[in-house]
Amino acid sequence: MAVSAKVLRGRVLTFLRKPEGPDDTDSYLYLEDGGIAIGDDGKIVAVGDFSEISASHSDPVIDHRPNLIMPGFIDPHIHFVQMQVVGSYAGSLLEWLNTYTFVEEQRFADPDHASRIASAFFDELIRNGTTTAAAYCSVHPESADAFFAEAEKRNMAMVAGKCMMDRNCPEGLQDTPQTGYDDTKALIAKWNGKGRANYAITPRFAITSTHEQMEMVAALAKEYPDLHIQTHLSENDVEIAFTQELFPEHKDYTSVYAHYGLLRPKALYGHAIHLSDSEIGMMAETGSVAVSCPTSNLFLGSGLYDFEKAEQAGMTTAVATDIGGGTSYSMLRTLDEFYKVQQLNKNRLTPLMSFYLMTRGNAEAMQIDVDIGSIAAGSYADLVVLDVRATPAMAIKMERVETLSEELFLLQTLGDDRAIAETYVAGQPMKSVLV
Ligand code: GUN
Ligand code: ZN
Repeated sequence: MAVSAKVLRGRVLTFLRKPEGPDDTDSYLYLEDGGIAIGDDGKIVAVGDFSEISASHSDPVIDHRPNLIMPGFIDPHIHFVQMQVVGSYAGSLLEWLNTYTFVEEQRFADPDHASRIASAFFDELIRNGTTTAAAYCSVHPESADAFFAEAEKRNMAMVAGKCMMDRNCPEGLQDTPQTGYDDTKALIAKWNGKGRANYAITPRFAITSTHEQMEMVAALAKEYPDLHIQTHLSENDVEIAFTQELFPEHKDYTSVYAHYGLLRPKALYGHAIHLSDSEIGMMAETGSVAVSCPTSNLFLGSGLYDFEKAEQAGMTTAVATDIGGGTSYSMLRTLDEFYKVQQLNKNRLTPLMSFYLMTRGNAEAMQIDVDIGSIAAGSYADLVVLDVRATPAMAIKMERVETLSEELFLLQTLGDDRAIAETYVAGQPMKSVLV
């Protein structure tokens, strides 16, 4: 996609590292009148005060003042094939999966359906300021083709994979150990590294894979040590008990994945709510990532993720929407719910931590921070422009806001897709051009 050089002007906020408290001003760069020079390749050339940037760059200026420009949001756990599952009325996880989700995902055997939903899915990410996601496709390789083709069309950095699942689900959603392995390999060869695509090895969760399939997943993980792995872990009490029944030879849920060599950096474990201290220790030691999905965990009544405990133990936490168990595509809404979950745990999340997590924090957790998650020279100009006065209720509250942290907290508490004034992908405005 051709991108012309430009300079964005506005208030700029980007994190330099994880904030260590509510007033950790060294953890971020904030420019009251900032400039971001973007090159023809969609990457950031320079960031600084607008006066300096405009003196050294003569490109056209797009003025976003008084809005706040931040790195695009990153959603590290989302099911693109569950757009039409969102808001399905179920008591808990397994009922929700069996009644709605496993029925819906069978539709993705049809490539036309997969393409239509992929297009709607990327539109929705852009509306919400999300520029990168780690996504689950269905079991059908065609769904992964549709997903990556749409991502490539929009030049978006995406991590995704086809689910591997060969039991405890309808026949129409089953692969076999061999076809799961072969199809995954073929998709890696076709998509990984093409444009901005990263393939993730994706066993859905232990319940839907036989021991034979887990052996094949282990082989894939060994053959591709640098790829992401994504799966689900310790989300719900009945799910945990069923997993123990299916894998009685292992001490606990996490040990099942450990046995097959799936604990490692870039391994993204959705939910990870009910882990024992020893499981948290295994996750921390191996650099595996817990991906908390607060709107989903509240919606399905799964439980309350303890962020403070994870931090104390050195287990990395990322935060994600988990559409369609989750109930919002918005990372602002998601962090608002994450904040409330931590309140129930008697811990208070700082606004700085929230905005770190949805940008640089999630990028670092996924180890894709080399060129996204920050506004810095050399990074892709994947950006979100935030309007803190987007609604009348936000505007009236803003009259009482005095600090940057208060402004961020307002964006988190009342903000949603309406607060996303623009989304840039590799320097290209994407939201304002949606039809
Ligand atoms: N566990 C296995 N599959 C899923 C899924 O699609 N959503 C959630 N929330 N949990 C899962
Ligand atoms: Zn999930």
